[in-house]
Amino acid sequence: MIQPPIDLSRARELLAQAPRIAVLTGAGISKPSGIPTFRDAPGPQANVKPITAMNMTLFRADPPAAWATHWPRVLAMRAAQPNGAHHLLSRLEAQIDARAVAHPETRDAYEFTLVTQNIDGLHQRAGTRQVIELHGTAHKAQCTNKTCKVSFELDVSLAPAVPLCPLCGTAGRPGVVWFGEQLHPVRARLAKSAFLYAHVALIIGTSAQVYPAAGYAQEARAWGTTLIEINPEETDLTRLCHLSLRVSAEEGLRALMDVTR
Ligand code: APR
Repeated sequence: MIQPPIDLSRARELLAQAPRIAVLTGAGISKPSGIPTFRDAPGPQANVKPITAMNMTLFRADPPAAWATHWPRVLAMRAAQPNGAHHLLSRLEAQIDARAVAHPETRDAYEFTLVTQNIDGLHQRAGTRQVIELHGTAHKAQCTNKTCKVSFELDVSLAPAVPLCPLCGTAGRPGVVWFGEQLHPVRARLAKSAFLYAHVALIIGTSAQVYPAAGYAQEARAWGTTLIEINPEETDLTRLCHLSLRVSAEEGLRALMDVTR
């Protein structure tokens, strides 16, 4: 049953009472923090080659060259600060937590899940706890020894060297998902179920070009989830959304959460 479009006041009502909210974010939410997007309209922050343009064959052929392109992004993301949109999503998560506390008899019915395609870690730094990093993180590396494969924090003082596994000394690879690689199966399943069981799903700052992330919203819609998009530009998901706000992430969240400052 496809629901009719909704207006902003109805969207506010739904968001203010929804027990289960899922959020999908993309590079657009971090653009105001100075982190370039991938496919955005050309502008002062010229698009960067998608970080996922790298692959394991290229990496194994020349690990130092792979890290030479990755370290600058790691350092830029470490230096970036969460912006208003990141903080507003952290506040939204706290509102869901408060609703759960206010309804102890149905506490389990309340859930906030933020699925991000971003690797910058800014959602966590803004205080959001339930974050699923679908495409990995810039802040970790993974051992390339098949019998070890441990994931370890990146020590930025090592740049631009190839980080070595603290357990077995083998070269580490960036802790991100490259094009053509499988997502972490548990992360992917948790992300999908968060959308399928959500009452309201927010799709913020993503061109919705990459799957399976873009597919979660489509499937959720078929299950009756109310889809609300925030993006200055139209995307392939716009026509599926019950409301699509043609504004920045921060402006859109302020409007939806009725937050003025
Ligand atoms: N607020 C909200 N949205 C914004 C803002 C903003 N301030 N600025 C730009 N946008 C929108 C753009 O209109 C665009 O639709 O953010 C979107 C960014 O799209 P992409 O650059 O394609 O980034 P994303 O959707 O996250 O890419 C998905 O592709 O290259 C891979 O792994 C990479 O995770 C990435 C995935």
